[in-house]
Amino acid sequence: MKNFTNKDALLLRLKSAAGQWLSGQDLSRDLSISRTAVSKNIQSLRQEGYQIEAVTNRGYRLLAAPDRLFPAEIRQRLDTTVFGRQTIHYYDETDSTNNCARQLADFGAAEGTLVIAESQTAGRGRRGRLWISPPYQGIYLSMIVRPRLSPAEAPQLTLMTAVALSNAIMSQTNLAVRIKWPNDILVGDRKVAGILTELRTEMDLVDYLIIGVGVNVNTPARALRGVTDREATSIGLETGEMISRVALLDGFLKEFEVQYFLLLQQGFGAILECWKALAKIEGQMASVDVAGRKFKGQIVDVEQTGVLVMRKQSGELMRIFSGDVRLQKNK
Ligand code: BTN
Repeated sequence: MKNFTNKDALLLRLKSAAGQWLSGQDLSRDLSISRTAVSKNIQSLRQEGYQIEAVTNRGYRLLAAPDRLFPAEIRQRLDTTVFGRQTIHYYDETDSTNNCARQLADFGAAEGTLVIAESQTAGRGRRGRLWISPPYQGIYLSMIVRPRLSPAEAPQLTLMTAVALSNAIMSQTNLAVRIKWPNDILVGDRKVAGILTELRTEMDLVDYLIIGVGVNVNTPARALRGVTDREATSIGLETGEMISRVALLDGFLKEFEVQYFLLLQQGFGAILECWKALAKIEGQMASVDVAGRKFKGQIVDVEQTGVLVMRKQSGELMRIFSGDVRLQKNK
C-alpha cells in the first residue's frame, strides 16, 4: 500500500487492540522497526492529540483519538486504489486547498493526490463567493485528477462529483439529498455541500482538474450565519447527530473512484441519468440569474456538457453555462 507509514501501521495496531496493552517489544518485532522508532512514533501520535498511555513492563495502549482528518486516519478505512493512495497533504489551516492543489499539480503531482485542511482562511466558492471553513467541523478537500478528456468534457467531472458526494452523504446518514444545478448538494432547501472545479488545459486536452469539495459536516448554525448567498445547513444540524468526518470522507473517496472509472470506461450516460434523478430539474419552472440578469422559464434538459437548457416564456430556448437557479415551488 503506497504511503502507508510506520506511524500509520502503529496506529492501526493500537486501534485494533481496542484499549488493550501492546508491548514495545511486540510492536517493534511486528512492524520491523527499532524500539526507539516505536517510541518516536508514539511521541508523534501524542503530539497529534492521541492519548496513549505508556507503562513499563506493559507497553502502550490507546485511550482516545482526536477527531482529525489525519492521513493515517483516512487511510485506515480507505477502500480505494488511486484516490487517497498518493500523497495526502494535510494542513491544520491553509488559505484554500484548491490553491495548494493547483501548485502541486503545476509541479506534476500525480492523479489521486489529495489536499485536506481542517480550516481555510480564504475558502473559495463558485462565482467568487467565500466558503466558510471553520476548524474541525467540515470537510475541505481538493483532489488532483488527470483524465484524458477534452476541456469541453471537463464539466462532466463536476456533475459526477455531485453524484458521488450525494451517494456518500445518503449512505452515511439517513438524509435524502438533492442536487441543485450545477453542483450544490441540498437537504430540503438548504445547502450542505458544494464543489468548485478548476482546470488547466494543454493544447486540446485537459492537463489536470482540481476538484474542490466543501461539506458542512458538524458545522453549528452560528458558524453558518455569515453565509450570504443562500440558506446553508450542515449534516449534523439536519440529523441531530455528530457525524464522523473520516467515515464520510472515506465513503466519498470510494464513491468518487467508482464513478470516475465508470465515466472513463463507459462514458457519461449512466452518470448523467443518476445526476438527473438526484436533481429532478427537468420540466420544472425556474428563474435563473445569469450575471445579474434574471430569466424565467421551464427547464427542458441538462446536456452531456452540463449545460442547462431552458424554454423561456417567449418559447425561445436558452442554453445556460453558468448561473444561479431557483426552482419555483409547485403550487
Ligand atoms: C460552491 O458551492 O460554491 C463551491 C464550494 C467549494 C468549497 C471547497 S472547500 C475545499 C476547496 N477549497 C476551496 O477554496 N474551495 C473548495
